[in-house]
Amino acid sequence: MTTQKQTAPTEPALRVLAVAGSLNSDSVTRVVVREAARRLATLGCTVDLLDLLQEPLPLYNPDTSHDAPAYALLQGRVERADVVLLGTPDYHGSISSAMKNFLDHFWREFAGKLFATIVASHEKGLTVTEHLRTVARQCYAWTLPYGVSFVGEEDLKDGKVSGAELAGRLEMMTRDIAIYGRLLAAQRRADLASTEPGFLARLR
Ligand SMILES: Cc1cc2nc3c(=O)[nH]c(=O)nc-3n(C[C@H](O)[C@H](O)[C@H](O)COP(=O)(O)O)c2cc1C
Repeated sequence: MTTQKQTAPTEPALRVLAVAGSLNSDSVTRVVVREAARRLATLGCTVDLLDLLQEPLPLYNPDTSHDAPAYALLQGRVERADVVLLGTPDYHGSISSAMKNFLDHFWREFAGKLFATIVASHEKGLTVTEHLRTVARQCYAWTLPYGVSFVGEEDLKDGKVSGAELAGRLEMMTRDIAIYGRLLAAQRRADLASTEPGFLARLR
């Protein structure tokens, strides 16, 4: 799904890759990631939705994955993104295997970008959020200073976000993605184009 709203011609639209990391056909994570994507589009972002159920990714194998036929296409999508929005269910206090598998495929493509996290959990998903933040740090990505978590049975109704608190958190997160994502993306572009030292120098 790609959605885009008009923005001023001088400012490139912020590109967000939104990853739905549950293979559950009835996934509540997917519902909330889609709602965040819809909100981001209304804020002028271009959103590319990667639903790992619709686009299954073979288990990462360092010997073969980079040569797999679909790899270059997905790598291009990750590379084009300015922001990566990650949605995962809480599995045993950590991220889903589908999400981990996606993350294992990349690191350079994440460096210097903003990560934002959404976790479906019955226990606030704090450790899950921490694990996503750890992956971000290992890959030299930034994260928002908070994550969104929710309980499917309480915050959704009839396949839609119904809880006011979750709606408010999503409003805040999507606004922050649009603002801080643009700032970081502009600095990332400038750093990649400059000759100054900094953590992005190795990616020039
Ligand atoms: C293998 C597995 C492990 C789970 N572990 C936890 C857990 O440790 N803590 C928790 O709150 N929920 C746990 N859950 C429940 C899911 O996080 C919860 O049902 C979530 O809403 C599912 O999201 P989804 O519908 O997007 O797949 C687990 C579910 C599964 C299938």
